[in-house]
Amino acid sequence: MRYQSLPYMYDTLPFSPTDPEYSWQNTALCQYVEEKFRDVCRRFGYREIRTPILEQTELFTRNIGKGTDIVSKEMFSFQDRGERDISLKPEGTASVVRACIQNSLFADYPMLKLYYIGQNFRAERGQKGRYRQHQQLGVEAFGIADAQVDAEVIALAVTFYRELGITDCELKINSVGVPESRQVYGEALREYVRPYLSEMSEDGQKRFEMNPLRMLDTKSKGDLKILEDAPHLVDYLDPESREHLEKLQAYLSALGIAYTLDHKLVRGFDYYTKTAFEIVGRHLGSQSALGGGGRYDALVKECGGAPTPGIGFGLGMERCLITLQEMGISLPLPQGASQVFMIVLGDEPELLRRSLQILMELRANGIAADRDFRSKKFPPQVKTADSLKAQYTLVLGENELAQNVIQLRNQSTKEQREVALGSLVEELKRLFA
Ligand code: HAM
Repeated sequence: MRYQSLPYMYDTLPFSPTDPEYSWQNTALCQYVEEKFRDVCRRFGYREIRTPILEQTELFTRNIGKGTDIVSKEMFSFQDRGERDISLKPEGTASVVRACIQNSLFADYPMLKLYYIGQNFRAERGQKGRYRQHQQLGVEAFGIADAQVDAEVIALAVTFYRELGITDCELKINSVGVPESRQVYGEALREYVRPYLSEMSEDGQKRFEMNPLRMLDTKSKGDLKILEDAPHLVDYLDPESREHLEKLQAYLSALGIAYTLDHKLVRGFDYYTKTAFEIVGRHLGSQSALGGGGRYDALVKECGGAPTPGIGFGLGMERCLITLQEMGISLPLPQGASQVFMIVLGDEPELLRRSLQILMELRANGIAADRDFRSKKFPPQVKTADSLKAQYTLVLGENELAQNVIQLRNQSTKEQREVALGSLVEELKRLFA
């Protein structure tokens, strides 16, 4: 093969890939999941926002944080022809904040609930559930500092998974407090780890220096053992963050949403304040986070806007599709692209012209209609109709054309009858109503 997709980037196909392991890479599945997300967002009062795929690099380096994995080693950054430093967006939140400031949305809409479905790029070492281009289904709610909205945002994600049938997952919550309390906790964590520092993994030692809280977000068994009795972030919280967490717990319980309080959940972005949460699946190996999010009450101001609280999440599309596949959930996908398939017997110019006109008329009236332009014989054309799972075939030959009629055949019952061309659209509309 002369060309291949780039490492850890994949294609989404209109047909199921031949290897069943990758059957989730299917457009119809993606569309179903996207529609489900749009529908849940609509019911929760969220509106869609779309932002460009490229942004100024500084938007991410400053706001996601220099010590984070994303900024230190995973961004696809380069200079454009105007020598501007730009990056493919590694996540959606910073772009949404930038767009809202630039378009004065915070000023015009003091309470703003937005959702997005977008592609993100991170130069990670790929594996199952981790790709260099991934899609996130995300929401961001601005202008509300109260923990009720934290509960509502979490409830939206939980509703989405529940309605897809993904019940096999766990909600973890924590509070990362405010920068000041985090700083104090970071020092306490360093003091605790210092005697064991030489035994920590290389990554753990780097995090000790750069961003001590990130030591908690490790998969290294040795590091986890060392951290077993580490002090808990929750014990260092400022009173306001503590109260916020307690309220969130009460609201989640009121909504009947089960959760665990995970002291080690810190998330990989510097912009988080107070609430942090993740929804963890059981079918994804080490890449277990189906989605995650949190509150970021200082981010809008950091980006140059008026102080505005915010909270949101991003759910990984690929991890959702893999989970559906592994749980054996089959979604009610629409069958076949074509409702009607036209079979044309012959190749006389007038017959071909009329068949094109009829096809166009059906399509203009909302009917999905197609034909196989390669053959003039019945068997190969009906084979194509079957492979496309057409519900009806329309057979047009010289005789039909002369009498201004067409044969309408139900592909499952095999019943066939003649319909006047003048009433074909009405007849089909009645059948598909
Ligand atoms: P994140 O945890 O980095 O958060 O990503 C959210 C979700 O996207 C993850 O839980 C995971 O399911 C999926 N994901 C992330 N990276 C990859 C990857 N390389 N391959 C496949 N899936 C991936 C954020 O990005 C935040 N902006 C979420 C947020 C919104 N927080 C507040 N508002």
